[in-house]
Amino acid sequence: MKKITKAVFPVAGMGSRFLPATKASPKEMMPVVDKPLIQYAVEEAAEAGITDMVFVTGRNKRSIPDHFDKAYELEAELEMRGKTELLRIVQEVIPKNINCIYIRQSMALGLGHAVLCAKPVVQDEPFAVILADDLVDGQPGIVKQMVDVFDKYQCSVLGVMDVPREQTRQYGIVSSTNLEPDVEKVTGIVEKPRPEDAPSTLAVVGRYILTPRIFHHLEQVQPGAGGEIQLTDGIASLMTEEQLLAYRFKGIRYDCGDKLGYLKAIVALGLKHPDVGEKFAEYLKSMK
Ligand code: UTP
Repeated sequence: MKKITKAVFPVAGMGSRFLPATKASPKEMMPVVDKPLIQYAVEEAAEAGITDMVFVTGRNKRSIPDHFDKAYELEAELEMRGKTELLRIVQEVIPKNINCIYIRQSMALGLGHAVLCAKPVVQDEPFAVILADDLVDGQPGIVKQMVDVFDKYQCSVLGVMDVPREQTRQYGIVSSTNLEPDVEKVTGIVEKPRPEDAPSTLAVVGRYILTPRIFHHLEQVQPGAGGEIQLTDGIASLMTEEQLLAYRFKGIRYDCGDKLGYLKAIVALGLKHPDVGEKFAEYLKSMK
């Protein structure tokens, strides 16, 4: 029986919807209250028992390795000033017994290409792909939920959710048959269909568990619109030879690659935050 021990975090995108914030700093370092998006994603993977975090980085990505590196000077300074709580927070950025591995995607040739860049590290093992700009608030985390499905079926699993039909153009959409509550057997997948053409309203969000066979298929994929190699095309091809499941996760997903989704995440997680939640709720009420 195979276990998922590796997660790939593609963080080499342009983040153009957040310019100028993403001019010199990656989108995945944007904070939601007090943690950057990438830290939420790494914690979600660690909770699922994943130990090897593989970051596919691009231009302006130095801050991500820095974030997950030991910060000697900062720690010494906090210790000297007796700021033990802050010192603990800084030290806990990297979950225990975790390896961080960095690979460079020299040109942003698409999400499929970014995943393919991780092949030398992932090699012949099933793995998770986590898009940190999709923040999912779930208990347990969505990756843990999906790993449980993988452990049972030992095949690729896509994280999906129902979306309003008028939004199908923003997502990969699957057609499927039901296997058990919340688990679907995928029979087709199309990228960003028009509402009238969409085979369903079940949309893929930024969580995937893939078998290593995906690399073979990504190597064959022809660049699509904008010269990008689409992960969806690789998955559609993988489906022709292996079982593919879709899992309707439990939790709320915030599209933090989009301004409105990002603001919603800040409000939702701000209201839940132990330090500021109550005061923030009072403030929001007073604004009405
Ligand atoms: P997006 O589609 O959100 O693209 O990528 P983007 O470039 O980051 O953002 P916009 O659309 O220009 O605002 C989805 C995920 O895939 C990664 C991104 O970092 C993001 O996590 N990605 C995308 C790569 O790592 N490499 C690529 O070539 C493209």
